[in-house]
Amino acid sequence: MDRKTFRNWAHRAADWSADYLEHVHEKPVRAQTKPGEIAAKLPATPPEFGDDMEQIIQDVDRLLMPGMTHWQHPRFFAYFPANSSPPSVIAEYLTATMAAQCMLWQTSPAATELETHVLAWLRQMIGLPDDFQAVIQDSASSATLAAILTAREQALSFRGNNDGLADHPAVRVYCSAQAHSSIDKAIWIAGIGQKNLVKIETYPDNGMNAAALEHAIEADRANGTYPAAVIATVGSTSIGAMDDLRTIGEVAQRQGLYFHIDAAWAGSALICEEYRHLIDGVDLADSFVFNPHKWLLTNFDCTAHFVKDPKALVQTLGIQPDYLKTQGAAGYNYSEWSIPLGRRFRALKLWFVIRSYGVSALRQIIRNHISMAESLASWIDAHPHFELTTRPSLSLFTFRYAPKGESDLDELNAKLVQAINDDGRIYLTQTRYQNDYVIRFSVGQLYTADRDIELAWNVIQELAGAITAAP
Ligand SMILES: Cc1ncc(COP(=O)(O)O)c(C=O)c1O
Repeated sequence: MDRKTFRNWAHRAADWSADYLEHVHEKPVRAQTKPGEIAAKLPATPPEFGDDMEQIIQDVDRLLMPGMTHWQHPRFFAYFPANSSPPSVIAEYLTATMAAQCMLWQTSPAATELETHVLAWLRQMIGLPDDFQAVIQDSASSATLAAILTAREQALSFRGNNDGLADHPAVRVYCSAQAHSSIDKAIWIAGIGQKNLVKIETYPDNGMNAAALEHAIEADRANGTYPAAVIATVGSTSIGAMDDLRTIGEVAQRQGLYFHIDAAWAGSALICEEYRHLIDGVDLADSFVFNPHKWLLTNFDCTAHFVKDPKALVQTLGIQPDYLKTQGAAGYNYSEWSIPLGRRFRALKLWFVIRSYGVSALRQIIRNHISMAESLASWIDAHPHFELTTRPSLSLFTFRYAPKGESDLDELNAKLVQAINDDGRIYLTQTRYQNDYVIRFSVGQLYTADRDIELAWNVIQELAGAITAAP
């Protein structure tokens, strides 16, 4: 493609994107296609000669769009949001154009220095103590893996990378039963083994039981294993459960364990001062992770990984073969803080978002989402045929349909979720709470407005009525 044609198509792509955002609310939120339906329409072999761009773009609309689930739809209430925003998209376009590998300071000093700078802004925005430094990772899963590897190495006096784990006592890691599955996966990858991930029981408020935690650590140590890390969650995926960081951090500190905090979703809400109490005790942490790519309008991938002691992280993940050595360069080499070597220029989109919106507008967006979730939860709570199963934690709550006389509520609610998502006007997902099948409702999409919440409530009532009326 020559430069003139590129310019033309770049303008066309901008129009496509603006049209998409203008009309996305008219589409079913969740793709309504059957497995294999899209793949069956694609040619089995690659083209020997280049296709016309006009044809390729038409195929995006014709072949692929029916199979897209629309995460930027204002009535996307499933999972957690994965927001994009216009400034973020524009920055991403520039990033893709430059396509710099920002693995070493020298391979793009501006990218490294902007990353350090914009993360210092983010640290101030969420009220973390200023002795945290930070790096952008591709995902919270990677950041948590990096934390677990660091904790493992600290517990093994930095011998694990060299020796392997076979000749060392088992390393033990602790989290609550509410913690995200990325912790389980990190444990597998770190070679620690699922049986050495100890899931601590929770208090009735669903936060980790600190006394049970301390008891488990002491018992494990008495058994000759190496307790290495405690991972606390601020805003669990299932119901938004919050661990009490101060009491858990004090246990970790007393016991000499690495303390990591997973605030992947809820971290964005900390830009509002009224939610800072949720991280009281964060000063005791060794690392803290949250995803601007969830709720801070910065499209995937952008995970902020804060660490107290970058030296321990670099001692765990840093490697300097001759071909990566740089002469006379004094800045950070962020690839030594991360698992992959290659790194995109992710700081640019975060910088665009923060500059373009300003912190005050970002705060207002988060506050609106929380207030919309609280309104809907209160309507559900007041309805005689619905139950609020967990109250709003920030902008997430769960509920179920429980009309009098229905015996199998799990099956009824599974049917309701399916009916809602097949209908297409809204999209939400399910989870289990205290063994019951419940429906999750998460508000956080940039374009969601009050009318979308009202429509969601109408759809839920209409389809609930229809499934109980059906013979
Ligand atoms: C609490 C929590 N931790 C970790 C993750 C994983 O995030 P990522 O997709 O960035 O790895 C999620 C994803 O929803 C989450 O909710």
